[in-house]
Amino acid sequence: MVDKTLSDLSWDDFDEHRDPRPEGNQFDEVVDKAISRRGFLGGALAFGSGAAVFGTGLLSSTTAAKATKATAHAKFSFTPIDIATDHAVHVPAEYDHKVLVRWGDALWSEAKDAYSAEAGVSVDMSDKVFGENTDGMELFEVDGKQLIAVNSEYVNPKINLPKEADGSPRTADEVKLLKNLQGVTVMEVANSGDGYQVVVDSPYNRRITHETKMTLAGPLAGHALVQTKADPKGTTVKGTMNNCGSGKTLWGTYLTCEENFNGYFGATGAEPVGEGYKRYGIGGEGRYGYEKFDPRFDISNEPNEPHRHGFITEIDPSNPNSVPVKRTALGRFKHENAEMVHALDGRIVVYLGDDERGEYLYRYVSNGTYAPGRATDGLLDDGVLFVAKFNEDQTGEWLALTPETTGMTAADILCFTRLAASAVGATTMDRPEWVAANPLKAEAYCALTNNKNRGVKPNAGGDDTSVNAVNPRETNKYGQIVRWTPAGENHAADTFAWDLYVMAGNPTVYDNAYSGSDNVNAGNMFNSPDGMAFSSDGMLWIQTDGDYKNKGDFEGMGNNQMLVGDPETGEIARFMTVPNRAEVTGLCWSADKSVAFVGVQHPGGSWPDGTGNPRSSVVAVWRKDGATFG
Ligand code: FEO
Ligand code: CA
Ligand code: CA
Ligand code: CA
Repeated sequence: MVDKTLSDLSWDDFDEHRDPRPEGNQFDEVVDKAISRRGFLGGALAFGSGAAVFGTGLLSSTTAAKATKATAHAKFSFTPIDIATDHAVHVPAEYDHKVLVRWGDALWSEAKDAYSAEAGVSVDMSDKVFGENTDGMELFEVDGKQLIAVNSEYVNPKINLPKEADGSPRTADEVKLLKNLQGVTVMEVANSGDGYQVVVDSPYNRRITHETKMTLAGPLAGHALVQTKADPKGTTVKGTMNNCGSGKTLWGTYLTCEENFNGYFGATGAEPVGEGYKRYGIGGEGRYGYEKFDPRFDISNEPNEPHRHGFITEIDPSNPNSVPVKRTALGRFKHENAEMVHALDGRIVVYLGDDERGEYLYRYVSNGTYAPGRATDGLLDDGVLFVAKFNEDQTGEWLALTPETTGMTAADILCFTRLAASAVGATTMDRPEWVAANPLKAEAYCALTNNKNRGVKPNAGGDDTSVNAVNPRETNKYGQIVRWTPAGENHAADTFAWDLYVMAGNPTVYDNAYSGSDNVNAGNMFNSPDGMAFSSDGMLWIQTDGDYKNKGDFEGMGNNQMLVGDPETGEIARFMTVPNRAEVTGLCWSADKSVAFVGVQHPGGSWPDGTGNPRSSVVAVWRKDGATFG
């Protein structure tokens, strides 16, 4: 077998390759011995008052029902679909779909020939096309136009650099190409009568790359930790990296979330040392070798550059000349998405996951209050960061990260947020991916995608990750979705009640904790929930990024998929499947809600062209009878 290069590893395995952690902790009991499936349903054995660990609506269905295919439900306006194992997109019979935009497609007419199957994208046009590996996505209405802001999370160097068999860039131009094909795209879309298309040459079109100038704002701006040779004031940064999930502010700007930023940095000489580097997995060889061509990414030369990434970055899509702003008050970690809600007391709350095995779930609460039309300055710069603690009795609390609670300085809390969270004893989580807030009630959901290290080894900071009520399965291969209701229906309140909306699993392989919760059955099973968004009717759309081999523990799950969950009944139905190898990530709707835009990242085969490279793409999905989503 050919050796894998660094860029072939998953982002999680890349981190553990650079920082191996000891295995073999004391928790060798398998969770299914301690917690029988009956225990989950009855609750009393495992969790004391745990009957409510699952929403009560989930307890009513029978084991017999579990084995049947999900059927159409009044709230599901579609016929649920079967799994797929092919290299195609499938949607319900009542719907149709078509590709909106692919990696390499021109945003400006001068780039119309930028992409070819043989050579990929030409370097000189690489910042004028749609980037690779589409991810978080939001739609904005500006002056009667529809603009989509969408992330390009990372690149697959082997298909971007067909000349380099191992995918390692060997020239500065090749590094430039990789930098340009990541970041963020803002593009106008319009329905010409023949479905939605990108408006090529729209004055709103914009590419934001690893080189775009940005402002560093909030309490960490200007601090010695973020000063570099190129920016001795510590206020101006180049680039936003590994843009994963997204968010939308109440005032109509885009939030892009910097996730596995650490992987872009490497060392060509002596490495800086310290817990701040170690906890974030910074050191060794960079995933793409940027450090060999650009000293900014060489931590032996510029040890503070990594401190300037790993933030939530705000972009104003309505102004293509606006300077993106990195909001340091929202902390520095592997940000998944940013779900902003307006708390009952007027403050804004942003829910934030840190997607790494055994890391944490966070919340930012502004000090000021928001009202439509009023100035929003400071709302994302002046506030308090909290980390979640989930108690066994299904209550929870948000622990403030302050100098008093952590023993750290205010700047260190924002730069080394993970260390602050460890200091206050927050709950280690099974990889928090997206958070989505229910628009119809004070309630939020977080996808905990999976965690093969749960109960096996500690997180990167050495924190214990034994099983707990909200992450109850050792070697959690399937994932779960937790939801919480804030006290007094106020998202800014410091306590909440929680339950598990769904525990993914395989009831055809297991008859224990790994078979999943009662709202999982042979007809709707899935693994590794990741992207989530609510439609305006209060239905939860769940996207997966999991094992797609359809074998062993995952047999019967097929390719990655998008499902719809009813928060009230717990029912879940499969809406869409994507090509083998792809994950589904990114979801937004046209202004009139007639069309859903769905991201298909890292497909296999030669989808969607049918020949040549697989091309990560955004797909438009609509109902044939014109009915809207939500
Ligand atoms: Fe980029 Fe955690 O997904
Ligand atoms: Ca994700
Ligand atoms: Ca994922
Ligand atoms: Ca991904």
